[in-house]
Amino acid sequence: MLMNRIEKAAVNNPARRALQRLYEVPALLDLAGGPLTPGSRAVEIGCGSGYGTKLILDRFRAAQVDAIDLDPDMIARAQRRLADRPGRVRLTVGDATDLRSAFGAEDDTYDAAFDFAIIHHIPDWRSAVAEIARVLKPGGVFAFDEVTAHALARPSYRKLFVHPEHDRFTADDFLAELPRHGLDVHGARTKIQADYLLGTARKQNPGRT
Ligand SMILES: C[S@@+](CC[C@H](N)C(=O)[O-])C[C@H]1O[C@@H](n2cnc3c(N)ncnc32)[C@H](O)[C@@H]1O
Repeated sequence: MLMNRIEKAAVNNPARRALQRLYEVPALLDLAGGPLTPGSRAVEIGCGSGYGTKLILDRFRAAQVDAIDLDPDMIARAQRRLADRPGRVRLTVGDATDLRSAFGAEDDTYDAAFDFAIIHHIPDWRSAVAEIARVLKPGGVFAFDEVTAHALARPSYRKLFVHPEHDRFTADDFLAELPRHGLDVHGARTKIQADYLLGTARKQNPGRT
């Protein structure tokens, strides 16, 4: 589901970028045990204006990132932001629940997948989790930063923003869904009475003892 005008202004804002840079990425790096291994390929869903994509390249040290957003205007912003990284980023307009159409992504393609506050925008959010699990390589990392049903039910969110009304998830719902798709939760933190959830999971690797 696309953001409304007010949420778009809130997201395309220096305060949002500072939060991502100064809190979310350091917390996720800590939970993930540090940057990705050299040469890693990552996918980012709901990349917005591409600031998270830049942090995935610079701070997680991904070699390449495929980044997708449903909103053509956000992808245009991301293209401008990332114009100095030719060859390291593929940006496309599309749906996070179908990465095969977007990037031709086969099963077990990526070393890491990133969700910076987007899965709560997807009505069938479980299919987005399933798609991430499908495209991650065994042992691949899923880093997530989510807004839960508790936050979405607050008067401020209800008044200002639009989000799917049905099947919203709490932090516990989200964490319980991951193992159903073969994603083992590594570590997770909630903030502000479980309004927000940050964490990392790894795709099960049956070949590893
Ligand atoms: C709250 S914004 C987060 C943007 C950015 N990741 C950030 O953290 O600032 C959610 C983004 O997800 C995008 N989005 C919503 N539904 C989507 C879907 N099904 N597939 C891909 N992107 C989607 C929206 O267009 C929006 O850019």
